[in-house]
Amino acid sequence: MPTPARLHVAHALHEVFGEKGRVPDVWDRDLGEDAPLAQALLGLCLRHWGRLQAWVKPNLKDPSRGVPLGTQVTLAMGLAQLAWLPGVSDHAAVNESVELAGTRDLGFIPHKGLVNAVLRRAAKDRPALAAELDALPASLDRSPAAERALKAALAPHGAEGEIEALWMRLQQPPRPSFRLLRGDLPEGMEPDVDLAGCWRLAEGTPFPRPWLEAAAGMVQDRSSQALLAYAWDRPVTRILDACAAPGGKTTTLALRHPGAALKALEVHPRRAARLRQTLQQRGIEAQVIQVDAAEWLEQTEETFDLILLDAPCTGSGTMQKHPEWPWLAHDELERLMGLQRRLLAAAAERLAPGGLLIYAVCSWLPEEGAAHRPWLAEARPDLHPAAVWPATLGTAEEAEGAATASFRPHPLRWEGEGFQGFALTRD
Ligand SMILES: C[S@@+](CC[C@H](N)C(=O)[O-])C[C@H]1O[C@@H](n2cnc3c(N)ncnc32)[C@H](O)[C@@H]1O
Repeated sequence: MPTPARLHVAHALHEVFGEKGRVPDVWDRDLGEDAPLAQALLGLCLRHWGRLQAWVKPNLKDPSRGVPLGTQVTLAMGLAQLAWLPGVSDHAAVNESVELAGTRDLGFIPHKGLVNAVLRRAAKDRPALAAELDALPASLDRSPAAERALKAALAPHGAEGEIEALWMRLQQPPRPSFRLLRGDLPEGMEPDVDLAGCWRLAEGTPFPRPWLEAAAGMVQDRSSQALLAYAWDRPVTRILDACAAPGGKTTTLALRHPGAALKALEVHPRRAARLRQTLQQRGIEAQVIQVDAAEWLEQTEETFDLILLDAPCTGSGTMQKHPEWPWLAHDELERLMGLQRRLLAAAAERLAPGGLLIYAVCSWLPEEGAAHRPWLAEARPDLHPAAVWPATLGTAEEAEGAATASFRPHPLRWEGEGFQGFALTRD
């Protein structure tokens, strides 16, 4: 039997490359001490899938014939271990992959011999294998969707030529950022020099799971933290977080505006239930409503001084954290753009005069962010840009002196998820 860690990795790879689905959130929950190996292996296979497959091809007896997914997965896993995980023995890398190839729902049994032969040959000189893989073009690991997202990330900054540099940055597993919710910081936390209230773990410090489980702190990406570090000094007594789960930004809004009445909407029942529970654990007072925000906004008569619309999107800015992103189906853009516009129009309608509307998506695609602005400006001439972020978080053209109403951190100069957004106020 292959180890549970490798079985889980194989399942996750089948989900991504067979179903074009996401790696399930808690895919490695019960792996105990093997979880780091599984995470590393899955990350390597997802990040270098194109190169691993390209390496295999000339090493087949008949390179003109493709191999089935079960063989692709088992070979990729074996090769990734041999090339980049020196702590894994030859025997474990080769034999476990051969066993995986013999597992009916994960491998392709007729190819057990082929998997064995290719991996045994590769194991004879592991440094040479790594050098051959590293010498293949990095662009093989990028799907057309990834290529497009990278171009979209760089274009607003006039940095189109820096695709390789950005891709290299995104290949590194992300370094988490945290916020303190109450009490003391766990050992090893260091302040982020560029972002007040943001904490990073010092090198070699264990992940602070007990601190997070006690709801004394939370993980929150730097871009999300910077987005909510807007400068706004008008009174805020009624807040709407229109797309709220899992609740990171709801929490920050509540802490930034203590005493304000906070409503948090979320359409998915399970996510809404978890949001309610998370906020409760954190001691955050907010009314959670499980509802379609567009429908709710179109029906309510309430108005808000602050509306956050952290809209559902393609997530193209999250591929560092989700290395499967390049390989997903990517057939949702039209639907999402329509939903984003409907949500935006409905949210603008419920913004109180003098209030602040923040729209954001964790995507670089202009269709999901920048392109909504001229459309909205035409529909709603009573809305005006609100320059609430430091100019460094926008693009050079968008800066109004020291501040900007556009949130588009430079993907190479800003460490954090790819985000874009804008802030508007109303007459
Ligand atoms: C980008 S996430 C929000 C992340 C959240 N603001 C945070 O920082 O933790 C978008 C959320 O909107 C929810 N959603 C999608 N469509 C929605 C709709 N029509 N109405 C309300 N929520 C929706 C999704 O289920 C998802 O939880």
